[in-house]
Amino acid sequence: MKVLFVSAEVTPFSKAGGLADVAGSLPPALTPYVSSMQIITPLYSQIDLKQFGIIAAGVTGTIKLGDEILPYSLFKLENPLNDVQVWFIESDQFFGRMGIYTKPDGEGFEDNNLRYFFFQLVILDLLQQKHFNIDILHCNDHHSGLLPILVKAFDLTIRTIYTIHNFLYHGHFSKAELELLPKPIRNQLSPTQWGNFSALLEGLDHADFLTTVSPGYAHELIAGVDLDENSHKHIRAAQTKLTGIVNGIDTEYWNPEADSYTPFHFSINALEGKQQNKLELLKQSHLDDDLEAPLLGSISRLVENKGFPLIIELLDEFVAAGAKFIFLGSGDPLIADQLRQASQRHPGRIAFDDGFNEPLAHLIEAGSDIFLMPSRFEPCGLNQLYSLRYGTIPIVHKTGGLGDTVTNYQAGQGTGFVFQPYQLDPLREAIQRTLTVFQMKQEWSELMQRAMDQDFSWNRSALEYYRIYKT
Ligand code: GLC
Repeated sequence: MKVLFVSAEVTPFSKAGGLADVAGSLPPALTPYVSSMQIITPLYSQIDLKQFGIIAAGVTGTIKLGDEILPYSLFKLENPLNDVQVWFIESDQFFGRMGIYTKPDGEGFEDNNLRYFFFQLVILDLLQQKHFNIDILHCNDHHSGLLPILVKAFDLTIRTIYTIHNFLYHGHFSKAELELLPKPIRNQLSPTQWGNFSALLEGLDHADFLTTVSPGYAHELIAGVDLDENSHKHIRAAQTKLTGIVNGIDTEYWNPEADSYTPFHFSINALEGKQQNKLELLKQSHLDDDLEAPLLGSISRLVENKGFPLIIELLDEFVAAGAKFIFLGSGDPLIADQLRQASQRHPGRIAFDDGFNEPLAHLIEAGSDIFLMPSRFEPCGLNQLYSLRYGTIPIVHKTGGLGDTVTNYQAGQGTGFVFQPYQLDPLREAIQRTLTVFQMKQEWSELMQRAMDQDFSWNRSALEYYRIYKT
């Protein structure tokens, strides 16, 4: 069983969101089960060839996109990582610029559709040239949504599996852009109700198997929660081939006992290091350094659906109640402004770091008491899993993967605080409950231990993917 895993971002080479973490950690977890596992991804110009030992693979070719003939070349790891070879597609025109999907100012690149058309056509070309001899192509999100139909249209005997990480991003493209794709697929694609096309829906329609990243999210998709009518129609038609498999995490990279980014290490039986990390985090973030007050952390893209409208509304009253907050993330400039203003209103009590900062992300997981993740919807979510592992108690909205991975606290049970529906009062009440339990020292340390005792390694989920591969 030979598998090629396709992803637009892969940790540690490139990361815009959770997809990268899954692409970096699921394939290695599958190596015990398959005979060969390889990954293919773009070579973005910010990927440092020297740092990762990436070398030219001696393979080049051209792709026809409309009237243009565009060159590509292939790079690879000099030494495969955990038995997984990673291939990188180089194209000066499409990937030789800073940024994965967006410019430094946060605007998406105008030619994103063409960039990922090109990406997929290179993969098709490599498959046709028999550069890869594989049985299964594992596609992820809309950047590889056209591959299932391309593979079929060109009569390749390869099975496809398509994983939906987030139904919000369709990769919509226009009728004019459609004309750039190979002829055999052009009249096989289905227009949406707006007359354009969706790479996500094509993946859904044409893949042999579909997965999404939690059973809860699979149920929501099937029920049509938050979906437009046309998308729901496609989901219903594909429902029998859809399975929800909760994401695992890289338990070496996110390990409180050996985290290379945190100054102090701790474990379920020796929690002192967590307090020392808290002190370090408070100092680094210019927050008042009393350890008694609860510290709530947040690491998130700054977008509406991550719950910011509710959080921002509640900041003043919980600061007045004695809590401290630290936010890390970038995105919507409006949300960034509101967080910046809140931090200026409450110096020493609210800190905001606008950007992406891996060491700080680890220190927030390690040094906060509580993790705020009230997403309106969340296909899986990874930060709540990192939080549980670091004894940082998550507050989550009962949706998608959040509802599947965090159980609500009740005396002596549960691993976090879960609220619903997605409204201000239920969130306010959840934070109040959390802060009350936080004052009960013994209860709180038992709650931390239960959280840290959870197993979210890939072991179980990798086996579920393997079963699908086998089928
Ligand atoms: C997307 C989803 C997130 C999920 C991640 C990895 O970023 O929004 O919920 O955890 O993909 O599957």
